[in-house]
Amino acid sequence: MGDERGRWLETAVRAAREAGKILERRLGESREITYKGPGNIVTDADMAAQESILETIRAAFPHHAILSEEMVPPEADDGRPLWVVDPLDGTTNYSRRWPSFCVSIAVSEGGRVMAGAVYEPNLDEMFHAHRGGGAFVNGAPLRVSAVDSLTGALMSMNWPYGREGMAQAMRLLECLMPRVGTMRSVGSAALSLCHVAAGRSDIYFHPSLYAWDVAAAGLILEEAGGTLTDLQGEPWTLQSAQCLGTNSLLLEEVVEVLDDCR
Ligand code: IPD
Ligand code: CA
Ligand code: CA
Repeated sequence: MGDERGRWLETAVRAAREAGKILERRLGESREITYKGPGNIVTDADMAAQESILETIRAAFPHHAILSEEMVPPEADDGRPLWVVDPLDGTTNYSRRWPSFCVSIAVSEGGRVMAGAVYEPNLDEMFHAHRGGGAFVNGAPLRVSAVDSLTGALMSMNWPYGREGMAQAMRLLECLMPRVGTMRSVGSAALSLCHVAAGRSDIYFHPSLYAWDVAAAGLILEEAGGTLTDLQGEPWTLQSAQCLGTNSLLLEEVVEVLDDCR
């Protein structure tokens, strides 16, 4: 890894940890909640975490572009390295003090995610990866599971906001559930993908997500030996509106089930 790219990862890790500490500190406070759409909330804590992250990135890389979930208007992706930030993934959990949430920060270049950090303050788990360098949690290498049959698989998914998205997720679940071993839903896309990277689960799908939900954890998954695609099995890109993360061994079988589902 070149010095410059090494600084990307180091800055992403530092910014994620600092923002995570802010979230942890503020967890017990009363919340200011604003609705962005049905079921889709943003809180004062999302904004405080975002402010801290933007400050850290801008101090280290004043000429880079930033796409952050709560930043209005977003900066243009104009060929500069692009930081893709979710200051709080799992806001609904956080607002209810349900302890599964994280900070997610990725850096992409030419549309390819090159570095990523996902920090879960509750367990003090820092997941990170840079392209070609493997994936780690708190310094220990990550590897996806060796589960190679759907019947033995632990699948996870999360619910999109809005009735239409939920109905679509229900249809996909109806096809997949009878085929897999069991299912979990933790309420944070980034953490769920990191769990596949860590071999804690084998499959994760979501029918409606944004780049900031997936970018960092998707690289961590790939660097741990997993595969990140859309629901058709095509490679995931920053423009993809859905995601499927697998331990690679189960990809083909899951896509076959999803193909028959439509
Ligand atoms: C959400 C979480 C959730 C997923 C939603 C996302 P947010 O992100 O990742 O698990 O089901 O679709 O939008 O709003 O907490 O950053
Ligand atoms: Ca999110
Ligand atoms: Ca968020």
